[in-house]
Amino acid sequence: MDANFISAFREAAPYIHYLNGKTLVLSIGSHIVRDNNFPRLARDIALLNSLGMKMVIVHGVRGFLEDNGLDGEYVRDYRVTTHAAMDEIKRACGALRLDIEAALGRCFLNTPANTAKLSIAGGNFIAAQPLGVLDGVDMQLTGQIRKIDGEQIKRCLANNQIVLISPVGHSLSGVSYNLTLPETSSAVATALGAEKLIFLCRANGILDEDGSVIPDLSIKDAVEYCQKNPQHTDIMRTIQAAENALKGGVSRVQIINGFADGALLKELFTRTGFGTALANHSLTQIRPAQMRDIPDIMRLIDPLVQRGNLLPRTQNEIENHINEFAVAEHDRLVYGCAALKTFTATAGEIYCLAVSEHGRGLGYGDLLLEYIENLSAKQGITQLFALTTRTADWFIERGFEPCDLTTLPEIRRQQYIDNKRNSKIFIKKPQKSPFQAA
Ligand SMILES: CC(C)(COP(=O)(O)OP(=O)(O)OC[C@H]1O[C@@H](n2cnc3c(N)ncnc32)[C@H](O)[C@@H]1OP(=O)(O)O)[C@@H](O)C(=O)NCCC(=O)NCCS
Repeated sequence: MDANFISAFREAAPYIHYLNGKTLVLSIGSHIVRDNNFPRLARDIALLNSLGMKMVIVHGVRGFLEDNGLDGEYVRDYRVTTHAAMDEIKRACGALRLDIEAALGRCFLNTPANTAKLSIAGGNFIAAQPLGVLDGVDMQLTGQIRKIDGEQIKRCLANNQIVLISPVGHSLSGVSYNLTLPETSSAVATALGAEKLIFLCRANGILDEDGSVIPDLSIKDAVEYCQKNPQHTDIMRTIQAAENALKGGVSRVQIINGFADGALLKELFTRTGFGTALANHSLTQIRPAQMRDIPDIMRLIDPLVQRGNLLPRTQNEIENHINEFAVAEHDRLVYGCAALKTFTATAGEIYCLAVSEHGRGLGYGDLLLEYIENLSAKQGITQLFALTTRTADWFIERGFEPCDLTTLPEIRRQQYIDNKRNSKIFIKKPQKSPFQAA
């Protein structure tokens, strides 16, 4: 059997389940629509639609115009749109829409789903008004968004249609205005209360100093980081729109390279993603467990119980002690758990420490241990025990020391003897500050 496939499918399943029925707005630069990889991206978009996700595509025109020698004049990254430029933009929108429709239309050929009919909707969803004069320059037919008809778009999505939107809005007097792609996508995602706004651009995401993609950031950290470490122009253009979308209620903004085959699927359906995910708060948190976490806790510990790493525990036992548990969560999915049992006023034990297979080696174990240590310190615990059959080195590397049975509090000693697991016993005492009296 192909273990990679099985593992990948299992990793993807909770995300597929979570995203069913959610709205995803894809902001796609025109150079990506014209790239050889676009038919594969279109196929992935159709696949997401068939899995129950409500898909909205907003396309750009800038790359298309530049490729056709229409560079134009820009003020603060807004194109000064003359009447002649507007004619070109309308032509570009027409061509790009047809290319996108054609690519989506081909998606179900030669697949078992070839009977599925994919339907694409467009329309007068955006009302615009002129941007006016910027830095003393008349921006002419460059516009700003006045209103998005979210209800109309939602009706199309409810009808299982993919909605395709161009970066052009019309005024009540019938004049068409050129809009920027990031602003249009952000406004559409906000009007729809979308789950995700995904920018498919030329950049891989926000990069650290070594050039590696930073997988996730809070928007506050992202804005500060990009001010100090300027990024690819596509990112700098996107970051303000990302901030607006998150403030407007969009749950996640993701930035991925639109040229890379499979990037969209990897970003959506793997823990590590492909590009950078932005949210109002950090995506990773360690928090006290709640009753709704019990199925996840059981899922985490069951395989480890079978392998003999952890003591068996019933759902009832966990329910009765849920206040002892903490979980490690990333982007709403639970990847790990740990619990703190107190025996006396000064002695406690970390137990049920478990990280899911897909979350291993990403630091959740350390975060959970740190959380339990802080919690035990707050409760006045000066002897934190860990009992393990297979993870001795992990605890030793984190400052635990071996100890013998007599060190365990009386009540735990008897359990130890009764369960006959012969676990190794470790203890961690708080470090004394060198300035503290002996
Ligand atoms: C132990 C465990 C919680 C660590 O979780 P994690 O999120 O992968 O841990 P971190 O990412 O913080 O640390 C990973 C590091 O620990 C190391 N590690 C993982 N399991 C280990 C073990 N059994 N012994 C020694 N080191 C181990 C990894 O090799 C990695 O080292 P590296 O950073 O040098 O590459 C996880 O491996 C697990 O769930 N194990 C099975 C359950 C278990 O044994 N629980 C403890 C009983 S109370």
